[in-house]
Amino acid sequence: MTARIIALSNQKGGVGKTTTAINLATALAACGNRVMVIDFDPQGNTTTGFGVDKRNLKASSYSLLMGESDLATATVKTSVPGLWLVPSTIHLSGAEVELVPVMARENRLKDALLPAHEIYDYVFIDCPPSLGLLTINALVASTDIMIPLQCEFFAMEGLSQLFKTIDLVKRNLNPQLELLGVLLTMFDKRNNLAQQVVNDVREHLGDKVFDTIIPRNVRLSEAPSHGAPGLIYDVKSPGSQAYIRLAAELMQRLTVPAVLPEGTPAGTTAQAA
Ligand SMILES: Nc1ncnc2c1ncn2[C@@H]1O[C@H](COP(=O)(O)OP(=O)(O)O)[C@@H](O)[C@H]1O
Ligand SMILES: [Mg+2]
Repeated sequence: MTARIIALSNQKGGVGKTTTAINLATALAACGNRVMVIDFDPQGNTTTGFGVDKRNLKASSYSLLMGESDLATATVKTSVPGLWLVPSTIHLSGAEVELVPVMARENRLKDALLPAHEIYDYVFIDCPPSLGLLTINALVASTDIMIPLQCEFFAMEGLSQLFKTIDLVKRNLNPQLELLGVLLTMFDKRNNLAQQVVNDVREHLGDKVFDTIIPRNVRLSEAPSHGAPGLIYDVKSPGSQAYIRLAAELMQRLTVPAVLPEGTPAGTTAQAA
């Protein structure tokens, strides 16, 4: 088993990184995958969203990053079968500064996550809203990056800076990092501008944009205060249903096409077994 390690990143806050980490991970676990979410934002919204109490934690993404605990120690079970979490606390906010004098500081998370490759199918890293050392650590540790974009005016603002960062990481630190896709979130069909934003983003980024669009749905924003993923809180809501479709699309995108037997005529379509 080799995990897909997917960084959810966008230096803008409030675009749906955390909501996507929680609900996409839950949908993938519900399909029988072994899934882990690493809360890598000092705000710890993913941790709260899973109903995990931050006060009595033995370890966290901070201690994992600083080499004070190993992955197994830092991992907690969530209430979702097949889904594990490395929680975050406010201590993580000190890491950006504390890591500065450390050797190979960009590789800390990658090294800490090595055991995850053999245990999980999917690992999501919920990044903080900045392009600092925490996000660099996440991008170096990942096989893929997924970028949530809110369907609002200025959605693509700042994207070129993010792409530049991805490029730098690819060239210097992690050549295998792939842009898995851009996810449009919080789509409001009553807002005339939203469809325009969708069209613009698709025109600029083409097939890098997921077909699935996440609608604005109050059930998704209510769920964290109940300490449960939207999918558990209200599976029938349009938001939960969209994340289920996204999970299906993601699994399909990541399926390696079947290798054709030698001598198969050109133009024959591979059929998944
Ligand atoms: N599809 C959605 N519909 C309604 N509210 C949403 C949706 N996605 C996110 N939210 C809400 O918007 C806010 C920001 O989302 P969040 O996932 O925390 O973004 P980020 O992690 O990028 O800062 C949160 O209050 C969240 O509950
Ligand atoms: Mg967040």
